[in-house]
Amino acid sequence: MVTQSIAGPAIRVRGLKKSYGKLDVLCGVDFDVERGTIFALLGSNGAGKTTTVRILATLLKADAGTAGVHGFDVAAHPANVRASISLTGQFAAVDEILSGRENLVLVARLRHLENPGAIADDLLRSFSLTDAGARKVSTYSGGMRRRLDIAMSLIGNPPVIFLDEPTTGLDPEGRIEVWHAVKKLAGHGTTVLLTTQYLNEAEQLADRIAILHQGRIIVNGTLAELKRLFPPATVEYVEKQPTLEEIFLAITGSDNKTDATGTNA
Ligand SMILES: Nc1ncnc2c1ncn2[C@@H]1O[C@H](COP(=O)(O)OP(=O)(O)O)[C@@H](O)[C@H]1O
Ligand SMILES: [Mg+2]
Repeated sequence: MVTQSIAGPAIRVRGLKKSYGKLDVLCGVDFDVERGTIFALLGSNGAGKTTTVRILATLLKADAGTAGVHGFDVAAHPANVRASISLTGQFAAVDEILSGRENLVLVARLRHLENPGAIADDLLRSFSLTDAGARKVSTYSGGMRRRLDIAMSLIGNPPVIFLDEPTTGLDPEGRIEVWHAVKKLAGHGTTVLLTTQYLNEAEQLADRIAILHQGRIIVNGTLAELKRLFPPATVEYVEKQPTLEEIFLAITGSDNKTDATGTNA
């Protein structure tokens, strides 16, 4: 863990651009993530969420713009950035043959931490996996695997965690389990940047929500702020608050309904 104390946001992104050949994916992306908060980068399939996360995690170079994570510039100090983060992708990186506990102990050993067993037991408890801890991961449900994956990403207490579509492909029950796990992270002061194409996931989890659309952040605010962008429609004395889904569709246009609602994931 990098113990450097920093002023300013945990993540700062300015004018980020990235193209793949002729495809302009990021066309000047700007946002900040305050420390200890959950920030949702919301966008349809192909909007550039993973591209953004990969740049922030130093796995990909931007064409232009700057990005800082935990006070370190991703281009100038990639090793410091890597020591400050963990990245959990859409596909759980756990070993099926090992038990949940063995997976955790292995990672704690690889990171040269003291007391790998105690670390594993603490994490199993935090993520409600104690009973399943001795079982092979191949017997786990999707939600349990994803929770174990998030637990593994916490080993060594990285101050910043990237969760790239943490619940894509999970059933509703598994998604709720993962939501509980994510909420706990920010409760412990960890900064979480999560990407999602599910509007209700952003609504459930995030302190701030930014919508990435056609290469730019087109809105960025708290759920309450986003709702204020759209005055409630008054119908027969009943105030109707717009859902985040309605806000999203109104801002992005209705051409990407299927992706935006996340029903085709
Ligand atoms: N290595 C690559 N080469 C070419 N195109 C890519 C590459 N990676 C991603 N893309 C394209 O860039 C766009 C954004 O991808 P991505 O960042 O994965 O979006 P998201 O995570 O929001 O679904 C998509 O159109 C995708 O097909
Ligand atoms: Mg993606």
